[in-house]
Amino acid sequence: MKKILAIESSCDETACAIIDEELNILSSVVTSQIDVHARFGGVIPEIASRMHVEQISVIVEEALKQANLTVDDVDAIAYTIGPGLIGSLHIGGIAAKTLASFYNKPLIGVHHLKGHIFINELIKPLNYPVLALVVSGGHSELVYMENDDSFKIIGTTLDDAVGESYDKVARVIGLEYPGGPKIDKLSKEGKENYKLPTPKVDGYNFSFSGLKNAALQLVNKMNMKGEEINKADLAYAFQETALNSLVNKTLKALEEYKDVKTVVVAGGVAANSRLRELMSEKIVGPEVILPPLKYCTDNATMIAVAAMHYLKHNKFVGLDAESKPNMSIED
Ligand code: KG4
Ligand code: ZN
Repeated sequence: MKKILAIESSCDETACAIIDEELNILSSVVTSQIDVHARFGGVIPEIASRMHVEQISVIVEEALKQANLTVDDVDAIAYTIGPGLIGSLHIGGIAAKTLASFYNKPLIGVHHLKGHIFINELIKPLNYPVLALVVSGGHSELVYMENDDSFKIIGTTLDDAVGESYDKVARVIGLEYPGGPKIDKLSKEGKENYKLPTPKVDGYNFSFSGLKNAALQLVNKMNMKGEEINKADLAYAFQETALNSLVNKTLKALEEYKDVKTVVVAGGVAANSRLRELMSEKIVGPEVILPPLKYCTDNATMIAVAAMHYLKHNKFVGLDAESKPNMSIED
């Protein structure tokens, strides 16, 4: 049975995983730098790269040890080629290329968001066409897939990504980075009290900066008046507005793309309990698949699962492949 060793290092997680072609996870090791970046309120690229350098060999060794394998036993080496922070991507790329060249293995450069999408296969096989709602710290996209090798962006954010706005709103009410999970939790204690503007954008595109700024302004205004904002109510208002905009655009896309058989949610924000609830409740017709909570945020298992598709289509890269910080999923 074919096996892939995959490395992920596009942002602030250093990860390595080994899976087989039946998607059995032989090992999956992730170290997060969150504690360090939390002190600065967000990811500092320079620190991220330096920490990847420190971690990468240890993580790869640990993944091999847990799987009880050597590099000789795997059929290909995969890594995240883009998008992401250039310095961080480089470290994973160098590690993967070193292994591929030393052990003479094929090399696979995986698009990070394809990893987030294909991790849903751990739940069940995808029935095409698939509509993927990709929601992470850096991306908010609706992607239509006719098959496992075709990615068409039908909607994207015109400004901030949804995860990014979660993190900014969280910061202004004193919640540590990453703020997404904290707002998710806090909003459960909130009620309808503040009104924030619903994003209005054409087509299947998104916009979150207006909503984010309205939330920030509300906090500032109340601070200036010497009043205290009800944090739970603000979290509730922000979350309901942001998520309903995501879900409504997905529903709108389904009206046009009537042949969609499966809707998948992908990316860090797919861990959001309210988004999972809304997607399951509101989408009738196509099957809705939600990724396992453990694999919503960055990990290398998702890169390995996506790499299985690259392997099937004989899509390899050379040792001279460059990391692509702004790579589109359509490339
Ligand atoms: O996919 P990911 O790990 O990294 C990127 O590829 O960007 O996503 C991280 C993002 C962060 O913005 C984080 O706040 C958000 O996902 N996130 C959440 C939740 N868990 C993580 N946002 C809302 N609710 C959550 N439960
Ligand atoms: Zn990600």
